[in-house]
Amino acid sequence: MIRGVFQIEIIDHDTHFSCAADNSVLAAMAQQQNTNWQTKRPIKIGCRNGGCGICKIHVVEGDYAHGKMSYAKVSEAERQAGYVLACRTFPRSDMKIKPAFSGDIAGFDNNDKNKNRE
Ligand code: FES
Repeated sequence: MIRGVFQIEIIDHDTHFSCAADNSVLAAMAQQQNTNWQTKRPIKIGCRNGGCGICKIHVVEGDYAHGKMSYAKVSEAERQAGYVLACRTFPRSDMKIKPAFSGDIAGFDNNDKNKNRE
């Protein structure tokens, strides 16, 4: 079992949070959401199980492990470039990340997906 707690910085959002090695980046962000983030989360939350792709992030710096991700949501080229699904990503060092999506996404009703997750 890998242990450790790492700092995750969300670039361009002036925020960071801690994430244990056995917790996903998305779960840690949701658990530590604070009022500075207002009502919008820097990383969108959807299915939380790798199915919808809404939580895609770009890892700019740091090491990580990831669970199974659909190639329909994260292509091989994207993986090679450091794109992953935050709900399937586990830190192995401090990380700097960027949300792959910002704002509302055409064709994806994020409000409906999050109705029962607030
Ligand atoms: S929340 Fe749906 S893929 Fe991560």
